Amino acid sequence: MKRIVFVGECMVEMAPADGGLYRMGFAGDTFNMAWYLARLRPDWRVDYLTDVGSDAVSDDMIAAIAAARIGTEHIRRHDDATVGLYLTSLHEGERSFAYWRGQSAARRLADDETRLAAAMARAEAVVLSGITLAIQPSEGRNWLISALSRARQDGAKVCLDPNLRPALWADAAEMRAALMAAAAVSDVVWPSFSDEAAAFGDADPAATLERYRKAGAREVIVKNGGEPVLFHDGTTTGSVTPVPVAKMVDSTAAGDAFNAGWLAARLARKSCEAAATQGCALSAKVIAGRGALVPV
Ligand SMILES: Nc1ncnc2c1ncn2[C@@H]1O[C@H](COP(=O)(O)OP(=O)(O)O)[C@@H](O)[C@H]1O
Ligand SMILES: [Mg+2]
Repeated sequence: MKRIVFVGECMVEMAPADGGLYRMGFAGDTFNMAWYLARLRPDWRVDYLTDVGSDAVSDDMIAAIAAARIGTEHIRRHDDATVGLYLTSLHEGERSFAYWRGQSAARRLADDETRLAAAMARAEAVVLSGITLAIQPSEGRNWLISALSRARQDGAKVCLDPNLRPALWADAAEMRAALMAAAAVSDVVWPSFSDEAAAFGDADPAATLERYRKAGAREVIVKNGGEPVLFHDGTTTGSVTPVPVAKMVDSTAAGDAFNAGWLAARLARKSCEAAATQGCALSAKVIAGRGALVPV
């Protein structure tokens, strides 16, 4: 059975509900990707590697991960930490976010090389994001990158969504250096052009694609909102035009869903182009629904 390991941070999400109440859920970029892939491919084993606390909310998070049919065997618990939290606010149709994640348990997920190697052993693919990297201390980040490099040598496909979030980094130069170091051990990179242009000054999606290819990624798939997805499959370059959406309800997790749709197709030996088409189709459904996790 194919096993895909996602590495990152899942957070408590508090979203406004009726009557001044908040609805509690769980979300986070790599978790969202795992959630969608587990729905698309119930016949594959999807595992999540993260750290949580030993408190009641951490129990609830693990239960929610398990309920999504995502493996929790590689989730480590700490007595002296808990999970991160974010709260969304809606003002005139615009969503904004406030985060409490600075001390979260997931900041330690890369502090043990043996544990990382055990989780990645015999995986078909290992998936992480720039947020996974951003929240690690530099030592953990280096261990994570070496574990990915070994997993790749052992045959795993390493897949990276840069998800550049300057606020999570000490400075932009550190962010850029860490992302390019991770890209150098990745087989697949799924950047979003708007983030990349802001951080690296790329003139167009082709420049983003070339930069990650030169870093060492074999396949690069550049997302660009409603604009065409530019991809390179190791041999040829092409593009796929996203499905036009009649009504954009909530763009949260559009990119995460894209990655899951792409993986579901590509790991089933479909072409990179067919995978991008499937990624766009899933994103279109997700932006037509509210919240990060839309039952598709
Ligand atoms: N305005 C839009 N119209 C149609 N599709 C969109 C739109 N915005 C996003 N998408 C779909 O979601 C995918 C990812 O969106 P993008 O905004 O580039 O990523 P992210 O959510 O990571 O910033 C796109 O490739 C596209 O398929
Ligand atoms: Mg994104």
